Amino acid sequence: MLFKFAKTAPSDESVTQIIIHQGSKTWFEVSADGRRSLQLGMGPAKSVKRRNYAAYLRKALSQIKNQRLKNVALGTHDLMPAHLKLLPEAAGELMAANFEMANFEFLVYKTPPKEGWNLVEQVTLVGEAPPSFKKGIAAGQLIGQSVNETRVLANTPGGEMTPVGLAQAAREAIKGTRARLKVLNVAQMKKLGMGAILGVAAGSPQPPRFIIMEYFGGAKSEKPLVLVGKGVTFDTGGLNLKPGDHIYEMHMDMSGGAAVIHALALAAKLNLKKNIIALVPAVENMLGGASYRPGDILRTLSGKTVEVLNTDGEGRLILADALTYAARYNPRLVVDVATLTGAAMVALGHRVNALFSSDEKIARQFVEIGEQTGDPVWPMPLWPEYEDDIRGNFADWANVGRSKMGGAIHGAVFLKQFVQDYPWVHIDMAPRMTAAEGDYLAKGASGSPVPLLAAFLRKH
Ligand code: BES
Ligand code: ZN
Ligand code: ZN
Repeated sequence: MLFKFAKTAPSDESVTQIIIHQGSKTWFEVSADGRRSLQLGMGPAKSVKRRNYAAYLRKALSQIKNQRLKNVALGTHDLMPAHLKLLPEAAGELMAANFEMANFEFLVYKTPPKEGWNLVEQVTLVGEAPPSFKKGIAAGQLIGQSVNETRVLANTPGGEMTPVGLAQAAREAIKGTRARLKVLNVAQMKKLGMGAILGVAAGSPQPPRFIIMEYFGGAKSEKPLVLVGKGVTFDTGGLNLKPGDHIYEMHMDMSGGAAVIHALALAAKLNLKKNIIALVPAVENMLGGASYRPGDILRTLSGKTVEVLNTDGEGRLILADALTYAARYNPRLVVDVATLTGAAMVALGHRVNALFSSDEKIARQFVEIGEQTGDPVWPMPLWPEYEDDIRGNFADWANVGRSKMGGAIHGAVFLKQFVQDYPWVHIDMAPRMTAAEGDYLAKGASGSPVPLLAAFLRKH
């Protein structure tokens, strides 16, 4: 999508304007001179929070897109509820990012229609635009594009987006940037002792990969921030096979991996003066004669052993090895992102991802940035009380909780056992793996939490 700046409104009739009002309805209006406008109801101004505002931006653009309109014009101040007190840069960024996100559909496998895809082509911003607003628009476009590239990876079917395919995608994501890629193969993982990743991978003919991306944009002396993403390219559940309605969409079980790959690539494109690492254990959780079994005991990279009580609890196993590996970088913070539990969805629905952290201050920063970017997270407890539920019978730990209740917390406290001496944040992104109604995002992967990570990486 092209963003253009103009001093006066284009007279072209093909251009639609966006006008916000405080009612609840949204409609199109054609004035006597043939000009079309979208009358966007945002409700009483004061009720609109930042996260709602981001959704309204997407709503506006998707309405225009659905009408097959190609050009939009809006005043540089038109779409800004005053009470949100947005600075021009933040306003530009939020607008461009959310417009890009709303203008996306997963079309890779569709035959283009004769009349072309139904996507908005141009947004004209009319009026005085301070340089900071233009800067925000440019950054927002990059952010929106990174979100959309994440969605392409997550939406790609499991037969194509294999662990090897995901490593290749990581290579492409950082092409032309200063970021570097290293990929560990089975022999290298064996040598290191990544018994958890290899255990999960055993049942699949697709070999696992351990993807390592490094971006050193900061001073050598500066400790890096390490992102870890769950990269299960398809989750059948393993021998604890998922039932039919639960196995659907499990090609998106690498959404956390896709998000950290594109968050790092974005940091490199924005030339951030930070050191950032992304780690993605990539495996397929398949069932077969070579699969790991319920009751198997895996020796993780940390040396701690884990009893596999359910082969569908594979995400926490591969993340255990990755969290141990992360310590090599002496990180100032590790953030893992994973479609870890159905229980997080039971707890929170589809509107917000679950956040766990060993550091309350960092947790508060994440909640705040989540609200600002419209990519929210909500805190959950990481209390040691829950650890009793995941003690192993014959190994140090069990990969699932004794009780069926509180599954998202069990997943998080399990991961905590492999967190070394660094501050840590765990985002269970199962709630927002796919777009929900009211998100004004196309069906399929939502691209969350790329906006959140992007904002955090830049600020902290
Ligand atoms: N990938 C799933 C969780 C999931 C389910 C994410 C649906 C997004 C949508 C994960 O590997 C899993 O199967 N978790 C189990 C854990 C259980 C075995 C303790 C679950 O949630 O049931
Ligand atoms: Zn699973
Ligand atoms: Zn999974």
